[in-house]
Amino acid sequence: MNLLITGGAGFIGSNFVHYWREVHPADRLVVLDALTYAGNRSSLPQEDANFLFVHGDIRDRALVGKLLNDHHISVLAHFAAESHVDRSIHSPETFLDTNITGTLRLLEAAREYVASGAAPEGFRFHHVSTDEVYGSLGPEDPAFEETTPYAPNSPYAASKAASDHLVRAWHHTYGLPVTITNCSNNYGPYHFPEKLIPLMLVNILHGRPLPVYGDGMNVRDWLYVTDHCRGIEGAIRHGTPGEVYNIGGNNERPNKEIIRTLCTLIVEEFAAHPDLARRFPACPAADGRDPFGLVTHVTDRPGHDRRYAINAEKARRELGYEPKESLASGLKKTVRWYLENETWWKAVMDGSYQNWIASHYGDGAAS
Ligand code: NAD
Ligand code: DAU
Repeated sequence: MNLLITGGAGFIGSNFVHYWREVHPADRLVVLDALTYAGNRSSLPQEDANFLFVHGDIRDRALVGKLLNDHHISVLAHFAAESHVDRSIHSPETFLDTNITGTLRLLEAAREYVASGAAPEGFRFHHVSTDEVYGSLGPEDPAFEETTPYAPNSPYAASKAASDHLVRAWHHTYGLPVTITNCSNNYGPYHFPEKLIPLMLVNILHGRPLPVYGDGMNVRDWLYVTDHCRGIEGAIRHGTPGEVYNIGGNNERPNKEIIRTLCTLIVEEFAAHPDLARRFPACPAADGRDPFGLVTHVTDRPGHDRRYAINAEKARRELGYEPKESLASGLKKTVRWYLENETWWKAVMDGSYQNWIASHYGDGAAS
């Protein structure tokens, strides 16, 4: 198969590239990515006969049409998006441009490709979406199902909801063969350190405050990123065109518990590897202290969703989806990855990253 992967230089897209190359080494992958602040060429392999990187924008319909035709694409896997809720609250317009207009241009390019007869039999447009489109749950509410009404609460969630509706409509109206997955919070390698888990890890290692929004009891359903990639693969290979599948980890945890676990894992790693104290002398674990003391409660995110939870029964039943990683094993792997890949995360924390941290958390938070 030949796959066109939009947003492949981002967190989940790059993990998907590594995953797919491992399980389907004969397939050819073309990544289209604009390399925004969240996209990193260093998260991807070097080019070879089965891997091509194209620096470009999903809103460039002509470019997308050319890539589909030139590479005889059989699967368009659409990951590209503006993805950070806090940034969507500061600057919503970029989110509407990329997530809505960008998806529209891809759909139109794919529709033309199929209508021209150039697309191979079984062509698929797979849209990667989020559980945030369903809104927020109360403590006793049942988990989100595919039939849960949409109730997006942030500009990010609203833009993703709009993109889901476009994908659905292009199937219903034009017969475009689409599938959609709505997934819960991912974590793992190549995660940009603006999101909760990598931000906390980097701050723990530098001995900086750990900014917890509100009371820290907001609940997310955490999923190791490779398990998400498996779910997407299932939808691409076994999903029915026009269908939606929820993907989740069955790992509902409040934010403070996640931070507690990260601190414990870091203390264990420092105890087992004395060189870490030399590499990260500002980390409280370097002299045996618990980094949890760095927790600082900060002003809550406006409109902060209280709880997300996913019912992934349909994906289990119809796609054979089953997460392999437990939260304990996934977090341990993630902590190790960040300790072993300091070069990656140092390189992505450039000037624009420092500006974001300073403007969002206050000047003292950046260094
Ligand atoms: P990310 O922000 O890490 O990566 C997004 C990528 O898209 C970057 O490489 C960026 O350069 C690229 N991009 C942005 N605008 C573009 C444009 N106009 N043209 C081409 N490329 C562009 O995001 P992520 O966390 O990897 O999320 C990937 C997808 O998965 C998104 O659609 C997101 O909504 C969805 N999702 C994310 C999570 C999560 O926990 N991170 C969970 C569920 C769903
Ligand atoms: O649910 C899927 C979504 O998960 C994806 O669609 C989004 O792209 C992805 O960013 C993520 O959204 P969240 O808003 O849940 O993730 P984030 O890492 O920003 O925050 C997780 C929780 O941690 C949330 O309750 C807010 C809180 N938080 C976050 C940051 C960055 C803090 O308390 N402090 C922080 O500094």
